[in-house]
Amino acid sequence: MDLSTDYMGLKLKHPIVASSSPLSETLEGIKLLEDSGASAIVMFSLFEEQIRKENEAFDFFLEFGSESFAESLNYFPHIDTSPKRPDHYLNLVRKAVEATDIPIIGSLNGITNEGWIDFAKQIQEAGASALELNVYYIPTDIEVSASAVEQRYFDILKAVKDAVSIPVAIKLSPFFSSTGNMAKRLDEAGADALVLFNRFYQPDINLDNLKIDPRADLSTPAEIRVPLLWIAVLYGRIKASLAASRGVHSSTEIIKYLLAGADVVMVASTLMKNGPQYLSVLINETDNWLTARGYHSLNEARGVMSRQNSKDPGAFERVNYIKVLESFENPFSSAIASKRIGNHLR
Ligand SMILES: Cc1cc2nc3c(=O)[nH]c(=O)nc-3n(C[C@H](O)[C@H](O)[C@H](O)COP(=O)(O)O)c2cc1C
Repeated sequence: MDLSTDYMGLKLKHPIVASSSPLSETLEGIKLLEDSGASAIVMFSLFEEQIRKENEAFDFFLEFGSESFAESLNYFPHIDTSPKRPDHYLNLVRKAVEATDIPIIGSLNGITNEGWIDFAKQIQEAGASALELNVYYIPTDIEVSASAVEQRYFDILKAVKDAVSIPVAIKLSPFFSSTGNMAKRLDEAGADALVLFNRFYQPDINLDNLKIDPRADLSTPAEIRVPLLWIAVLYGRIKASLAASRGVHSSTEIIKYLLAGADVVMVASTLMKNGPQYLSVLINETDNWLTARGYHSLNEARGVMSRQNSKDPGAFERVNYIKVLESFENPFSSAIASKRIGNHLR
């Protein structure tokens, strides 16, 4: 079975990529991911706030007037000793590139296009094969329009594309009024890949201490539905590669993503839970399923269940919603009916 795939120009031996997570925070962790079979590794993210703090570029923050920036600085209390310091990050990229034979993809997380973009270039110079941009922006200011939020993504993408020559992927939120149009415009703006989707950790309320709880849970397989929909819809309609991210806990989710049209499938939570070694199980099971179905290569199978190749494109639209609702029956209908009859006889 030829599982090879092309991800934004990177030739990978199979489509299963280690997603950005703490597993890549050390060289040992990175080597273990490679030894366990990852076809590429996306490093943990370095945050704009960390880079800017290191650069002591606070003037920009004062001009920009972002309260959220000040707040997020408090979130990095041990920045001076953190292994996530920008210079440590570059060193780790350098060492990872030397120590492995698979593409190492740097990851930057930012929400503005100033004060940190040069760092993208330094990641390229450290030897990264590509860069993933994670725009984790929550527009809590209700005066900010949808178009202003979208413009932020384009400004960041353009600034980074201008700074580097390696491929650039952008990791998106699904929360746009027109997610497909946003994907199309990012493709036209030069994104080499779209990572669908970022997982947002919405705050929870702790009822014991009445504080906002920042606890993060690992994903569940039920989360694949939103990325699956958009990968199936976008397949064949944009140039950028499609990376599926979210909810992979077995080869079942991987196969669904590939049939929908993903070029690669990224995994984080399941590796945090089962260890990097679980990658070999995922790869073997994916291979076995495709072989048993008579495919000779991943290219033959990719996208066969996409909207473009579907005999029933309505299944991706409103019609599906109506069908789904109609498929439910009221589980209490017979109890209600017998109660009604009982009342009637009384
Ligand atoms: C503990 C943990 C840390 C993560 N750190 C990052 C990060 O630094 N940057 C990033 O872009 N995504 C990060 N992610 C998100 C993952 O890369 C991935 O997109 C998300 O968890 C969905 O995939 P999954 O269902 O396989 O976990 C993290 C996820 C987990 C579970």
